[in-house]
Amino acid sequence: MQVVILISGSGSNLQAIINASNENDCPFNIRAVISNRPDVKGLQRANAAGIETLVIDHKQFDGREAFDQELMNRIDSYQPSLVVLAGFMRILTSQFVEHYSGQLLNIHPALLPDFPGLNTHERALESGVEQHGASVHFVTTEVDGGPIVLQSSVPVKTDDTAETLANKVLEQEHIIYPLVIKWYAESRLVLENNKPLFDEKELPATGLQYAEVQENQ
Ligand code: GRF
Repeated sequence: MQVVILISGSGSNLQAIINASNENDCPFNIRAVISNRPDVKGLQRANAAGIETLVIDHKQFDGREAFDQELMNRIDSYQPSLVVLAGFMRILTSQFVEHYSGQLLNIHPALLPDFPGLNTHERALESGVEQHGASVHFVTTEVDGGPIVLQSSVPVKTDDTAETLANKVLEQEHIIYPLVIKWYAESRLVLENNKPLFDEKELPATGLQYAEVQENQ
């Protein structure tokens, strides 16, 4: 299965997905990496792995619609089965999201539906939650609001800072994102009528929990 990955920055999730794609019997291939920002580390990571890269700088476009249209044209030229947002820091138009309905995944650094949007680690600390984490979800027109597939939790300790928490959460992101992409490539995961099915079973509202998935493996 061919995947196109969209990035805007460091690309540590991209790296985790590249590593997974290099494992024996991996069911997906990264066809291309597209960044809306030039000169980001994620592009270097893709180049180092011999993956085709493309920069589509949103600043060169007159508005969100024009940028998204170009993005769609370029993505479609690669004919991917799945589009993966890996730290892609742009809000997408409904036209874009609907075009890839059921074929567009995102990772968010919080246990959705808690803390959609930015600065999730700071907000988790301020609110005093005991558990924080990451969620992989299908993308819908509601920002960070699409059906959740898989979450992984980390405990919030009293001495955690936004930075230590971010690092713990990122570690989990790097595990769960490649896993979900594999499931999708194996057709174990599909979106039907806006509901994610895993092995033909409907998922709970907050998706599968990685700790439980691990126990059952
Ligand atoms: C991750 O925390 C991801 O959840 C969020 O943006 C960050 C991207 O990090 N959407 P990286 O570029 O993958 O290192």
